[in-house]
Amino acid sequence: MVQHYLSELDLEPAETREVLELARTLKMERGHAFRDTLRGKHIALYFEKPSVRTRVSFTVGVQELGGQVVELSATNTKLGKGEHVEDFASVIGRYAHALVARVFDQSALHAMSRYAGIPVINALSDDRHPCQALADVLTIFERKGRIEGLKVVFVGEGNNVATSTGLLAASLGAQFVVASPSGYGLRGDRLAEAKGMSGSIAQTSDVVAAAQGADVLYTDTWISMGQEAETAERRKIFAEYRLDTRLLDEAASDVIVMHCLPAVRGEEIDRDLMYGKHSAIWQQAENRLHVQKALLCRLLG
Ligand code: CP
Ligand code: NVA
Repeated sequence: MVQHYLSELDLEPAETREVLELARTLKMERGHAFRDTLRGKHIALYFEKPSVRTRVSFTVGVQELGGQVVELSATNTKLGKGEHVEDFASVIGRYAHALVARVFDQSALHAMSRYAGIPVINALSDDRHPCQALADVLTIFERKGRIEGLKVVFVGEGNNVATSTGLLAASLGAQFVVASPSGYGLRGDRLAEAKGMSGSIAQTSDVVAAAQGADVLYTDTWISMGQEAETAERRKIFAEYRLDTRLLDEAASDVIVMHCLPAVRGEEIDRDLMYGKHSAIWQQAENRLHVQKALLCRLLG
């Protein structure tokens, strides 16, 4: 059966741990390990939205595993402007060995996975960002030695990144807290997905209280791709929900600061924190490469 990665919960916690373990090996032995795993294989990358990290890390990762990339975008295809997603997927599945897709609508990924007949990987949708979540939890393991019982606080909207990192972290035992303005938290159905997990997800609008004792402080843009029309309104609504020294002072003394990037300096975070001694941001960005290589090995190796 073809395995997809549309959600961070498509792998069981034990399987996620195996991917993270493989990512550590690939990181340590970069350039040597598994360099023929994708030999003769072609990976299609499709982007409906802009990307730096995801595009470059998948491209480099596929090449380091011996494979090749074919890149597609909303501007060089007619997907959504004439060609139906089912037809697109049916064709791509006959050329390529996996499809990595960044889309607005999560349901497009489900349609792709039904018709492509090859593994489909979610490279971000409005709902989820599971590859980011894998890199995030690897970074937490590397910096803290564990994730179980850690207080991981997300400051900002309960968006795609908060959803995926929250659910993955909770599935591995973290106490995840989302601090958002009222009406901008995680959707109820996403909170419900955390039921029965070894960790938990809580929600509050009191950002200062949330930061108390935090082991990880995480933030993301106030204005995700596709929300640009709401920029002025969101700047007002989220003004208190910035990751700054006020929150750092509330957190554990060895707190790490995380951001999925791209960051809007002076809004949700400042340069000083991004480059300060608590920052894990650059390690987090690097880890995208290693976890995605591990994921490709798992789905295609
Ligand atoms: N974090 C992330 O996915 O970055 P890009 O949008 O640049 O790919
Ligand atoms: N929430 C952001 C994440 C970017 C990686 C967005 O969707 O634009």
